[in-house]
Amino acid sequence: MAAKRLMSGIRPTGPLHVGNYVGALRQWASLQSDYECFYVVVDWHALMSEYKTPAEVGKHVYTVLAELMACGITPERSTLIRQSDVPEHLELMMILGNLMSLGRLQRCPTYKEQLRELASKEVTNYTFLGYPVLQAADILVYRGEVVPVGEDQLPHLEITRELARKFNALYGDLFPEPQPLLERVARLPGLDGRKMSKSYGNAVYLADPPEEIRRKVMSALTDTKRARRADPGHPDECNLYPYYKALFPETAAALRSDCEESRLGCVDCKKRLSGLLVEFLEPIRRKREALLSDRSRLDEVLKEGAEKARSVAGGTMRAVRGQMGLF
Ligand code: TRP
Repeated sequence: MAAKRLMSGIRPTGPLHVGNYVGALRQWASLQSDYECFYVVVDWHALMSEYKTPAEVGKHVYTVLAELMACGITPERSTLIRQSDVPEHLELMMILGNLMSLGRLQRCPTYKEQLRELASKEVTNYTFLGYPVLQAADILVYRGEVVPVGEDQLPHLEITRELARKFNALYGDLFPEPQPLLERVARLPGLDGRKMSKSYGNAVYLADPPEEIRRKVMSALTDTKRARRADPGHPDECNLYPYYKALFPETAAALRSDCEESRLGCVDCKKRLSGLLVEFLEPIRRKREALLSDRSRLDEVLKEGAEKARSVAGGTMRAVRGQMGLF
């Protein structure tokens, strides 16, 4: 039986951090053995909020592409795509937009949240409201069946499924209703306990050199209930324990009891985590550097991805036009 088709997207708003790795990239890499994967760097989506600095978005398409490849998501195993190389995404967005009510988009919980979070970026524009419609087009233009996403994206997946059903009911069966595939590992907190985010400066990046990783981990906020070294620690209330659990599960169990029974202090725990993180991230950092220094290779990857993507997306759009009786 042919492998099911899987599609996902990532916005090129900046370099990626370990939170992105744990929440998405790691899973994207391993899914390559079970699915036919289409991974899209969604620059049009990024521009909806970053339209004041478009050249940054253009540049970070390459950053993100190199980082995906450094994490083992490779053009040999997946189709790697820059969204703006495939105009069919927009063509399908227009068709799907007819089937989506304004009120439904205005009530979308991600939209309301982003309006608050990105207030300084003035995302009250027309395109940002339509964000989920373009996302639906991203998925449906490849007739994606499975979509690995974080929990925060479930409202967008629901909109995609609604649009697929509406299209099929009005114009005839064409689109599968895509299924979300959730990552089971908990989200990594930032090193200060807040949400990991570029704007908070609390993230460890795939691009961070060893001394930077050490500096960040050594100044992290740990267990605020543990005043003295001799006090028992509370791994479940510590910002570092989730890093062990997500990335170094083989050391997490012993570490938990050492912490709870005061055998391990926070300073030593931080040293150990820095060492493990450096060892883990260093090969990724080197690969990403090497890839970023060879722009023509990255352009080749994008060209190859665009060709494959356009042949699939072009086929979908011919079917769309045919079924609608357009031409
Ligand atoms: N909205 C997604 C995010 O911010 C990115 C995205 C765009 C996406 N198009 C997609 C994810 C299609 C999955 C499928 O994470």
